[in-house]
Amino acid sequence: MRTFAVQPTSGCQGSPERLTLVVIKTRYLLTPEITLAKNEKNRKPFPFLGMNSKTSSSSGLKREHEPVDILSSSQQPTSAFVIPKHYACHVRSVLISRGQIQDRVEKLAADIRSSYAHTTVHLICVLKGGSAFFHDLQSAFRALHNASGDAHVPFTFDFIRAKSYSGTESTGKVEISACDLSKLKGRDVLLVEDIIDTGTTMSLLLPLLKEEGLPKSIAVASLLEKRREDKDVKFVADFVGFSVPDEFVVGYCLDYNDAFRDLQHICCISPEGIERFKDGI
Ligand code: IMP
Repeated sequence: MRTFAVQPTSGCQGSPERLTLVVIKTRYLLTPEITLAKNEKNRKPFPFLGMNSKTSSSSGLKREHEPVDILSSSQQPTSAFVIPKHYACHVRSVLISRGQIQDRVEKLAADIRSSYAHTTVHLICVLKGGSAFFHDLQSAFRALHNASGDAHVPFTFDFIRAKSYSGTESTGKVEISACDLSKLKGRDVLLVEDIIDTGTTMSLLLPLLKEEGLPKSIAVASLLEKRREDKDVKFVADFVGFSVPDEFVVGYCLDYNDAFRDLQHICCISPEGIERFKDGI
């Protein structure tokens, strides 16, 4: 066991925290138990990707492409879509349909590919929620690459598991089961995540990967980003599909106690759904 002090990414607010990192082969347990170092001046700059426009990513750099805004008012009735019977009364509305997700993922793949032109990017799928996004993203990425006729290998990939939610609430702790992080050394790494909500997961995970893995660069692609107008934004991803209202969403591998991962569309859960799956499937 060893203790690993992690500094917060810029923009992290609130009471000081510190992390204990327990390393058992490739298993990590991060809990915010001890004090994070406060002195931001000592923080070394790290080469995230990060592009050129109005929003700063967590690296302090800018992202070029803004996400598509999904408004609360654009929730669509479940009667307009095919919802499987086992979830018929458990979702209130469809927020983003499967077709819209696919079209957006294709564009994200194109944006990401142009940022990593001539480079083999190392994709890390953040399980379990990121798995549908990861699958569709790498598939679109591969199709674009193969059609281009470029000679380099477009990407390699690995998996990492991060768990921070219980039911519909963030626990504030992140449990991580990681791949062999020494494989990241000198690589251009792109984390593929389902949703940035409080930003806790990414603001703890990235410094860990940086310290332990020593990648050449690290960036984050997240399908969704929640508009948490009442709270500080702890983390801004480099590539984001959709900005969604501050609601608990399910489907496309996003879950509520492991339910709804098999739902194709991204939906808002109903009170009946909350009640039905409060103890799991
Ligand atoms: P954060 O650490 O608060 O940014 O939350 C990130 C993680 O919490 C994601 O990887 C998801 O697993 C989970 N999460 C956050 N919001 C939602 C949601 O609305 N639906 C399902 N999972 C969520």
